Amino acid sequence: TDNQVVLGIETSCDDTGAAVVSSDGQVLGQALATQQDLHLRHGGIIPTLARQLHEDNIQQVVDTALAEARISPQDLTAVAATVKPGMALPLSVGVQYGKALALAHNKPFIPVHHMEAHALTARMLYKIDFPFLVLLVSGGHCLVVLARALHQWSIIGSTLDDAPGEALDKGARRLKLRNLPECASMSGGRAVEHLARSGDPLAFTFPSPLLQHADCSFSFAGLKQCLFKIAENLEGEHGVVGGQVVPQVNDVCASFQHAITGHLLRRTHKAMVYVSARHLLPPHAQTLVVSGGVACNQYIRGALQRLCDTAGYQLIVPPPHLCTDNGIMIAWNGMERWLAQKGVLYNREEIEAVRFEP
Ligand code: KG4
Ligand code: ZN
Repeated sequence: TDNQVVLGIETSCDDTGAAVVSSDGQVLGQALATQQDLHLRHGGIIPTLARQLHEDNIQQVVDTALAEARISPQDLTAVAATVKPGMALPLSVGVQYGKALALAHNKPFIPVHHMEAHALTARMLYKIDFPFLVLLVSGGHCLVVLARALHQWSIIGSTLDDAPGEALDKGARRLKLRNLPECASMSGGRAVEHLARSGDPLAFTFPSPLLQHADCSFSFAGLKQCLFKIAENLEGEHGVVGGQVVPQVNDVCASFQHAITGHLLRRTHKAMVYVSARHLLPPHAQTLVVSGGVACNQYIRGALQRLCDTAGYQLIVPPPHLCTDNGIMIAWNGMERWLAQKGVLYNREEIEAVRFEP
């Protein structure tokens, strides 16, 4: 029937998200409370504070999503919540809330893997059949994955150190970009992208990490270190003091973004060669899905588009609000699992036994 509706709850990091989606991929209701601004001011996420904010917000966020969808918990087909991976204290809030809601209304509970949810969001919007290639780039992750089927994944490459969003966030912090009024409320990645628009991507030279590495791993720590060094040199040269931003900051951001983009491109290309050599994708239906917060970046999207055009891939990148953490992707993953009847928990003991896994 068409009135199957799943509620999804996301609290793995610093966003409290909830949404209700239908089996045909309509978002019937959604709400999101983000803690980004507070964590930006602290220079990182403080787990106990994050948990407190999730606890303060979750009821309101879920109620808003349900109200927008004009349904009550009774009408739900199932409740889904992110159970892994993520930060323990934040995760615990959503898992506990989701389980309690499911138990109180005698609804099935569906535990969701956060990264699988990022990867499957594109299937809510477009008709994408398995198998397909996925690049997940966020503040906490960097993965190239072959999505073979629901809950069947092969990791082709992952980061040896930082995630790209983490390198961008730490780079932005080192450059004190928050002291520029125009960037004050932006995430590090967005601030770098914003300033890079009027900078020269070739003004500063960055290394090309892992060129000699045979596998499809990523590494961003060296690029971050190089940025720190450039900042230090510029500050020394120009006698920069206190909260001042270095001169040429636009060029620095453009070059840093260019280096990160180049690395992502080379490693993704390597993954494409890998799957071709092993005939893992049908030659006439090759798709690359990109998601995670860093996929909001237009410069990176443009570069990936050119790579895909050359390699004969279709590129799919969901709109920005679906790339960053949200409740919709969790609800949709729950719906996919519901429709396939995979990983759906019906009985009370089973649901009570679900634990979050950082
Ligand atoms: O997926 P997400 O919301 O949370 C997780 O990390 O799971 O991603 C957040 C990350 C942050 O590191 C942020 O700096 C980055 O995504 N980001 C961007 C842009 N917008 C957000 N990075 C590059 N360009 C952007 N426009
Ligand atoms: Zn995420």
